[in-house]
Amino acid sequence: MHDFHRGRRLRRTPAMRDLVRETVLRREDLIMPYFVAETGPQDMIKPIGSMPGQNQLGMKALLERVSRAVDSGLKSCILFGIPKEKDPLGSPGYAEDGVVQRAVRELKKKFPALVVVTDVCLCEYTSHGHCGVLAQDGQVLNDPTLELLARTALSHVQAGADIVAPSDMMDGRVAAIRTALDESGYESTAIMSYAVKYASAFYGPFRDAAESAPKAGDRKSYQMDPANWREALREAAADVAEGADFLMVKPAGPYLDILRLVRDTFDLPLAAYQVSGEYSMIKAGAQLGWLDHDAVMLESLLAIKRAGADLILTYFTEDVLERL
Ligand code: PBG
Repeated sequence: MHDFHRGRRLRRTPAMRDLVRETVLRREDLIMPYFVAETGPQDMIKPIGSMPGQNQLGMKALLERVSRAVDSGLKSCILFGIPKEKDPLGSPGYAEDGVVQRAVRELKKKFPALVVVTDVCLCEYTSHGHCGVLAQDGQVLNDPTLELLARTALSHVQAGADIVAPSDMMDGRVAAIRTALDESGYESTAIMSYAVKYASAFYGPFRDAAESAPKAGDRKSYQMDPANWREALREAAADVAEGADFLMVKPAGPYLDILRLVRDTFDLPLAAYQVSGEYSMIKAGAQLGWLDHDAVMLESLLAIKRAGADLILTYFTEDVLERL
């Protein structure tokens, strides 16, 4: 009677299952995204309709929210800005007193140990909503955008950001940012590249949150085609060569194959972005009573780690910290 595999031996009790668990989720793995806005009062907490539990936060509200999260174990956050004004070149994005720059200064003053990441992109700051400079014919111009991205990243680092995370998908931006940081003496500041970022419909709720939807057209000329996996290797290799310190795959849940591929091919720390749509689907399912919120949340994050992510950017971070 030794002729079949008895896998259940290792699943008999909770203690036995704990003993053989291969993947664990740690609070250090999680990066919480915050939307900081200068479009309302300092204490503004403006709910984002399509992302239950997430808000646009005024500066004071942000500090209070982060303070509570730090008390429950928050180690890292990533900031997105909602500026008062926008213009065609996204200049509020690289203003010294821009909303993200001010938020970084405040956060690093109050929470020096918190790892503050900034999203580097123009789409929240451009009047047309694209991630780069727009030509007359509506094309997004690559090379003229690089200089603006480098200025944005440098201004974040001058404000105290620990890591800058370019999410624009222009070619050559990691090199442009690395050069700009090095030339100003910030050779020790890390770049987390959104290396493999797909043109995904799962970003829909984020564009409500950050008020960053393109006014015309879409992002398919710079973000990747969801049909492609070999292209992910080319994008990641380019960013490694340009000096990225972390790679990121985005979205996460629907792209676990890509996460595994990038994990197995490159040895840099790997982040995954569980994006707004992934979050909102779980929240909606739970609100309808169709899904067990906490169980599905934790399983979705565990799956992302199992696929190869070291770090996860997720709107569930605060929820998870309260439960770990
Ligand atoms: C900015 C940016 C986006 C996201 C992160 N950075 C939006 C986009 O590319 O349209 C999406 C995050 C999410 O959906 O949670 N370019």
